[in-house]
Amino acid sequence: MSDCREAPPKFRIGLLGHGTVGAAFAALVAEHAGRIRRITGLEPELCGVLTRSSGDFQAILAEADLIVELIGGIEPAKGYVLEAMRAGRHVVTANKQLLSQHGDELFAAAGEAQVQLRFEGAVAGVVPVVRVLQESLAGARIDRVHGIVNGTTNFILSEMARQRITFDQALAEAQRLGYAEADPSDDVDGRDAAAKMAILARLAFGAPVHLDQVRYEGIRQITPDDMEYARELGLGLKLLGTAERIGDALSVRVHPAFLYPGHPLASVGGPFNAVTVESQAITEITMSGPGAGGPQTATAVLGDVVSAMIPPASPPEEMVTLPILQDVVSAFYLHLEVADEPGVLALVAQVLAAHGVSVKSVVQRGMSEQATLVMVTHAVLESRFEAATAEISRLEPLRAPPRFIRVIEEEF
Ligand SMILES: NC(=O)c1ccc[n+]([C@@H]2O[C@H](COP(=O)([O-])OP(=O)(O)OC[C@H]3O[C@@H](n4cnc5c(N)ncnc54)[C@H](OP(=O)(O)O)[C@@H]3O)[C@@H](O)[C@H]2O)c1
Repeated sequence: MSDCREAPPKFRIGLLGHGTVGAAFAALVAEHAGRIRRITGLEPELCGVLTRSSGDFQAILAEADLIVELIGGIEPAKGYVLEAMRAGRHVVTANKQLLSQHGDELFAAAGEAQVQLRFEGAVAGVVPVVRVLQESLAGARIDRVHGIVNGTTNFILSEMARQRITFDQALAEAQRLGYAEADPSDDVDGRDAAAKMAILARLAFGAPVHLDQVRYEGIRQITPDDMEYARELGLGLKLLGTAERIGDALSVRVHPAFLYPGHPLASVGGPFNAVTVESQAITEITMSGPGAGGPQTATAVLGDVVSAMIPPASPPEEMVTLPILQDVVSAFYLHLEVADEPGVLALVAQVLAAHGVSVKSVVQRGMSEQATLVMVTHAVLESRFEAATAEISRLEPLRAPPRFIRVIEEEF
């Protein structure tokens, strides 16, 4: 007896890139084909795979209903994505470099061609922050997004705090465990997190934020000493991304920051990622989970593919241009090596006060000739604090340049 049920129509996926994420994606499509068929009524099928050494883009494009771009970098990924969208194909990508540097061109092309451009895997791996910002919170006016969006640096800082080891030791450990690449610069210098924050800011505020507009600092300069004092002051150190509305402008930045234990991101350790979204309407939502890894990121990519298989697409949001501020208010941790002599604290306090910087807490330790003075300030405009530290660096009792790290002040 033959089965008289009709086979469901095919949905053909063209896969560009078959590396860590691409190979995991191909395996997931095969593994979950039945489930996807039940959800969408369509039979997913890989119609071609492009790598450096095999496959032909034009042939794949001609066959495909949707293109998944998992090559990474700018070219040739950008050319392929644009060509696919102009040919009327939906595109799913996990490419944060591409979106943070060429988002305007890509979203415009998607809008013109009336196709979907989905990118959940580009920010925080499988943590569904893109979907939440784009869809679930479409009705909320978002005030601020805080993110731990780089698992490598979060692992390094967690290990520095846990094992009381140096940055270089923790980096070596991260490389041994596969959490850091052989050249870790993009991660440890903050550029990877900056790209992700540019994407989150675009989603949260509907504004075209470019990677070049995101100020970023990394974690190479963090010492075990900083961790030790943080412990004493009850603070935890994170590489924190912030995108926030300040009046009619925006600030998007990435830098190390101390968090009080009650902060929703303070307990996020190891290679995990987490994002907190704040809005008056919803108070605060925090999402956390694995921020990278082949199968994890491929899960986010497949989720996007399934969404694209189910019409209708949400129309692209209209963009507004808002000024991007570079000088914002922050509290600071200030670390000073000074001569151990009377009156130094008063001298430093005098300079801080002259620049409008007020001190919240102080730890002072003497070591024969030299003393360490660690302070946490109240929130102050960064330019004022920088002017104060520039003046402090010229004080006669200073034995080393002042070091500082921002502190996130809010109590949750
Ligand atoms: N790995 C993660 O945990 C992770 C997490 C989040 C997002 N992502 C993003 O996912 C994307 C893919 O990352 P990945 O880690 O899977 O990269 P990967 O392991 O380096 O794989 C890249 C793939 O692209 C292919 N490729 C490179 N240049 C090409 C070219 N010119 N033409 C055609 N194919 C080319 C490579 O071909 P060969 O096989 O011939 O070398 C390889 O199959 C990137 O945008 C990355 O930022 C990755």
